[in-house]
Amino acid sequence: MNEQALRTGRILIVDDEPANVRLLERLLQGAGYTQLEKTTDSRQVLALYQTFHPDLVLLDLLMPHLDGVAVLGQLRSVIPSGAYVPVLVLTADATLDAKQRALAAGANDFLTKPFEQFEVVLRIRNLLDTRRLYLELDRQNRSLEETVRERTERLLQSEKVATMGSLLAGVAHELNNPLAVVTGHAQLLRGTVSDPVVLRRAEKIDEAARRCVRIVRNFLALARRRAPERGEVQLNQVVREAVELLAYELKTGNVSVSLALAEDLPVLWADGHQLHQVLVNIVANAHQAMRHSGSPRRLTITTGRDPAGPQVSLAIADTGPGIPAEIRAKIFEPFFTTKPPGEGTGLGLSLCRGIVEEHGGTIGVESEPGQGTTFLIRLPVLPRPAGVAAPDAAEAPAPAGPKTILVVDDESEIAAILVEALERDGYQTETAENGADALRRLERRGFDLVMSDTKMPVMDGIELYREMERRFPALQRRIIFVTGDVLDAEKQRFLESTGVPVLTKPFDLTEVRRVVRRRLVDTASDAAKGLRVSP
Ligand SMILES: Nc1ncnc2c1ncn2[C@@H]1O[C@H](COP(=O)(O)OP(=O)(O)OP(=O)(O)O)[C@@H](O)[C@H]1O
Ligand SMILES: [Mg+2]
Repeated sequence: MNEQALRTGRILIVDDEPANVRLLERLLQGAGYTQLEKTTDSRQVLALYQTFHPDLVLLDLLMPHLDGVAVLGQLRSVIPSGAYVPVLVLTADATLDAKQRALAAGANDFLTKPFEQFEVVLRIRNLLDTRRLYLELDRQNRSLEETVRERTERLLQSEKVATMGSLLAGVAHELNNPLAVVTGHAQLLRGTVSDPVVLRRAEKIDEAARRCVRIVRNFLALARRRAPERGEVQLNQVVREAVELLAYELKTGNVSVSLALAEDLPVLWADGHQLHQVLVNIVANAHQAMRHSGSPRRLTITTGRDPAGPQVSLAIADTGPGIPAEIRAKIFEPFFTTKPPGEGTGLGLSLCRGIVEEHGGTIGVESEPGQGTTFLIRLPVLPRPAGVAAPDAAEAPAPAGPKTILVVDDESEIAAILVEALERDGYQTETAENGADALRRLERRGFDLVMSDTKMPVMDGIELYREMERRFPALQRRIIFVTGDVLDAEKQRFLESTGVPVLTKPFDLTEVRRVVRRRLVDTASDAAKGLRVSP
């Protein structure tokens, strides 16, 4: 029913006397009511009601074949209980008995013939006003019910996800170390072999292992489901890093990547790790979607400042097969996947939505089958809260000369991978098998960086950190933690409080390189500012 119809109202006139019908019709038209329907045959009322859907019925009582009371009975049987469709009874038979019968049959009001014209119009207006209010209330109730239903659904879903998440996270946690070994060796192998057949095998192992890493990380993130830990984040940088991480997979999948990153993006006050995870999941989806489509396979990531308000936009578009309308609404639901078992858990996008919404942003999708898919994210630009110091913006030059790194891990396989990767980049390394061993080595000589596991026998990473704080304060800024222990909330809080960069196992060697380099740049800038840097 449109607005205009509501304002004027649809009125059905029922009277066996044609002259009465004409009179009422003229009266109503004069008062501005144009949507009128009428009959002099009361047997037609039910059919007319069902096709015309009146907002008000004007009903004569004394009629041949079917009198007004009988018509009322028929109407009440088709009007849903609780719905308000007023019936105004017009009668010359004004006996109390007639009125009582009509009332009992469901009439809403009476007018006694002959009636005053203004009175007719007034009553009709009042009844239609009530009807309009009823419709408005009904609409609001429905939307309220819908909201309650949606929220309940989401709550149940998120509880289910949290329970499953923590269950699976326990398993995922156990997989961290072996997975770090698999991904590490696959990546190292990829970098050393020249035989194309072996290279292809290495790539396949690497790709599968990276997928495992993504799954493990998604489960862990679900189980840990926490508010964003905000810091200053350059969105373009997050985009570049995510693309860099997936560059190899995209290249082997023949996907070309174009970045259209706005230069003037404001700095976000957001959780960089979480936003990174959002990008990795969406880009991985795009990559998977394009796997079976012909060329061109193109991924376009665009960032921009939103002219409408203090927000930035991030669009990730692919040239894949698109998403059919019937599943578009479901893709953000946890565990919804169209991929065969073993290829998708259905968690990626639900996690993305969770993260974006916790940042106060929105995520949506535009997609037509055959036309590719674009995910669009908007994030509000929040100011850095007062009292939080701005990071030093001065870019230090890349560190020069050979650097020595102490790798501390009780798992010799993990240590060996880190050592090999670092040495390949030209660093000198030494390994220690626990915190106490590391301290002994630190006593003997200086290191430019210490990469330490957190969970180790004899002396763990946290104790090592505290000891170093006491004995070698200048080394505080030269630590990187490598942890598999993301489920230990207390440990996480401690690690975060130190401000030390944390790599989570299973790590990606590209990520390891980047963090090491950045940490060395930081210490180089400390040195430039005259901080004491040797132990
Ligand atoms: N770029 C895309 N093109 C086509 N379909 C997509 C795209 N991104 C997501 N989808 C659809 O949305 C579904 C849900 O995606 P989501 O990332 O949540 O789970 P998944 O990719 O199936 O599994 P997981 O990410 O846990 O490995 C996918 O199974 C797929 O059907
Ligand atoms: Mg996915």
